[in-house]
Amino acid sequence: MATLSVFLDVPLATAIDFPLDVYREDPSPQKVCLGHAGCHTDSADEIWIPPVVQQILLQIPQDPTLDHEYIKELGIVEFTKTAMELVIGKNNQALLDNRAGGVHTIGGTGAVWIGAEFLHRWYRPNHLTPATVYIAVPQLDTLGCIFQVAGFTDIRSYHYWDPIKLSVDIEMFMAELQNAPEGSIVFLHAPEETGLMSSEWKRIASLMKKRQLFPFFDIAAQGLASGNLDRDAWALRLFVDQGFELLCAQSFSKNFGLYDERVGNLIVVTTDNQTLIRIHSQIARLIAMTWFGPTSLGARVITMVLTSPARLYEWKQSLQSLVKRIMLIREKLKEKLRILGTPGSWEHLTTQSGVYSFIGLNSSQVEFLEKHKHIYFLANGQINICSINSRNLDYIAQSIHESVLVTTHQNPSCLYIKADKEPDESSVDLSDSS
Ligand SMILES: Cc1ncc(COP(=O)(O)O)c(C=O)c1O
Repeated sequence: MATLSVFLDVPLATAIDFPLDVYREDPSPQKVCLGHAGCHTDSADEIWIPPVVQQILLQIPQDPTLDHEYIKELGIVEFTKTAMELVIGKNNQALLDNRAGGVHTIGGTGAVWIGAEFLHRWYRPNHLTPATVYIAVPQLDTLGCIFQVAGFTDIRSYHYWDPIKLSVDIEMFMAELQNAPEGSIVFLHAPEETGLMSSEWKRIASLMKKRQLFPFFDIAAQGLASGNLDRDAWALRLFVDQGFELLCAQSFSKNFGLYDERVGNLIVVTTDNQTLIRIHSQIARLIAMTWFGPTSLGARVITMVLTSPARLYEWKQSLQSLVKRIMLIREKLKEKLRILGTPGSWEHLTTQSGVYSFIGLNSSQVEFLEKHKHIYFLANGQINICSINSRNLDYIAQSIHESVLVTTHQNPSCLYIKADKEPDESSVDLSDSS
């Protein structure tokens, strides 16, 4: 018998990354979402946006020279060029040789998607099957999915963070790279929020060269780890300087506060200009089939900032004050846990940097926080530090404290401390100092 709907068998997909619906539906006035993708301000708990970006967003609609014509597949040339210079450096040899080029994409996610599609079609290190792909454990659900949909079947996770020692475990990472099939694609994150040191990146680069592994970088928040744009791009520049061919997905959502404008740049670095031209021609075809051409507003804003020394200076100042606030939140949370006498070391809160952080709680502690304290986490065990503010800091610290005590059975009575205690308004000021 004919069914009323041909889609009856479509299953309900589970949310990738974060159960935002569960958080939204939670009626508790104390609920806290530590998994938002965006950086927030302290005072109003709204999305952080650099003042210079706000000013330009007001100016652009008044500009009579701008129209709404389609943009070509590879995007606004001035944007891709200046964005690429920001991350690999203006005087980089790959740029001077014309063997590095950007592709304007729909967000960093679009850059990963187009990169994965391109690699699936054209990168055949063993001439037969698509390569093996390695993705860091915390990003396996989200980014692994992209590579899977692009057609890769052998997707493996790699580990660089030891959840017991609460620190980077470079030896574990090196062993995994050592055993990776030759030609595997390794998806690398820089700036490395967990704090890989330059000597460790050098070891990774040298092993990847020896094992002929292909680097695909993800630069999701340049400037927001150290506050210094060059320092945050150091690892990528090391690989480019060492002559690797590589891809890099560059995102501008966090460092420009332009989440909804969806601006990204897929950087391609090759050994010669002819290869770059051929790769770009294939990527242009892929884009024509996927979204035809990119969006313009965010890219125009970013170009206007990056090409004006005065605006660039203002933007850098804003980044630095946000980084200071992030470090202050880390320090305050660590200090609160110390004062509460929470068992364990919380040093990892300040040895990591950047927006995201491994909080160092196990799954039963995370479950306790969700069920009893209405504090929601990312599935990958990381929290967005910017979701912590003066109003919820005490509540979060107290809740973490209780979760640790309860799950280590040191003080089971804490289970009954209710979540409806008013947060301490007299607490600290975590506002952006700019
Ligand atoms: C590590 C990482 N990479 C890439 C992205 C994608 O960024 P975009 O918003 O530009 O698509 C995100 C977004 O949160 C991210 O956290």
